[in-house]
Amino acid sequence: MNYPFTDPFGRHITYLRISVTDRCDLRCTYCMGKKMSFLPRDELLNFEELSTLSKVFIECGVRKIRLTGGEPLVRADLCAFVQSLTPWLNTDKSKPGLDEITLTTNATLLERYAKPLYQAGIRRINISLDTLRPDRFTAITRVGKLDNTLKGIEAALEAGLKIRINTVVLKGLNDDEFDHLIEWCGQNQMDLCLIETMPMGQVEGNRMDHYLPLAEVKNTLQKSWTLLPTTHSTSGPARYMTLLETGQKIGFITPLSHGFCEACNRVRLSCTGVLYTCLGQENNYDFRTLLRSHASSDELKQALFTAIQHKPRGHDFAFDRLNKTTQGQIKRHMNVTGG
Ligand code: GTP
Ligand code: 5AD
Ligand code: SF4
Repeated sequence: MNYPFTDPFGRHITYLRISVTDRCDLRCTYCMGKKMSFLPRDELLNFEELSTLSKVFIECGVRKIRLTGGEPLVRADLCAFVQSLTPWLNTDKSKPGLDEITLTTNATLLERYAKPLYQAGIRRINISLDTLRPDRFTAITRVGKLDNTLKGIEAALEAGLKIRINTVVLKGLNDDEFDHLIEWCGQNQMDLCLIETMPMGQVEGNRMDHYLPLAEVKNTLQKSWTLLPTTHSTSGPARYMTLLETGQKIGFITPLSHGFCEACNRVRLSCTGVLYTCLGQENNYDFRTLLRSHASSDELKQALFTAIQHKPRGHDFAFDRLNKTTQGQIKRHMNVTGG
């Protein structure tokens, strides 16, 4: 077998997203329904199982691991798991290893964990934050307090973590705040990434009532800001520009209006050990059963190879303007695979 594994469309799989829990301490309206039920804890892979699988993925060519949730920091002892991965950090691309271990978090627990995460080897994190207005923050997250999230962000900056703020663009809910977000990110030397809302799982109301194509947002921003081309990349789906006025990057993730699947390098492991080879498709492979039936490292590698040979070309998300609906609706919620 040749590493990194390559799918039928010639894409090298070098980025593994691991959802360490489906639980979250927030309930963002576009992510979850009001009444969410979470998995019993014994269904989750334990950290030893996750380390075994991570080793296999790294040996098969993965060079970046992102921990997601739900909210990854609600899983006790996450820093210890990060520490179990840090021996893999190495920049010598001729050997198996990781360029980066990173995290996507809602920041509620960063006051406690920012420093330990830095000490464990994390240098860059993405933080979900859709608004800087306390009333809106509570409305969008249903239960969150903006102040708490801002304290977490402050702690992360103090710890020396490089931050990208992830903002899901929601028409009528936060689309008058992008100038403010750009300024605030600039003041704090954080990058900003705008994301189109995706049809993952049923939520109350029609998500598409709040859909705004990012091309429109970009056009509006260009009236107030100078967006310069850049080759900056984080090897994820975002396409970046540099904001001349702040010097920070602004990223655009456009699954609905403009696909990025042709350059996909990712697979994602759910907290129960199910591998999804595309966020926007149902194809999946049960690695927990394999692990728990004592599959050897070679058997796990073979299973991963097979899964990647069936990686779909991409998602089928598309916005139907007339009916205000999306095609390609996926049954599972975002918190199952962490996006
Ligand atoms: P970087 O390493 O900073 O590039 O992060 P990232 O964008 O890969 O990860 P993050 O967890 O911050 O995800 C940002 C958004 O991108 C989330 O809404 C994810 O659901 C979405 N996303 C990430 N990968 C994919 C993908 O393969 N397909 C789709 N449709 N969305 C994705
Ligand atoms: N569409 C787009 N992004 C979403 N996220 C959660 N649910 C959705 C959705 N339906 C985002 C979060 C977080 C990232 C992991 O995914 O805001 O930043
Ligand atoms: Fe939690 Fe993130 Fe979903 Fe919000 S978007 S409920 S923070 S997992």
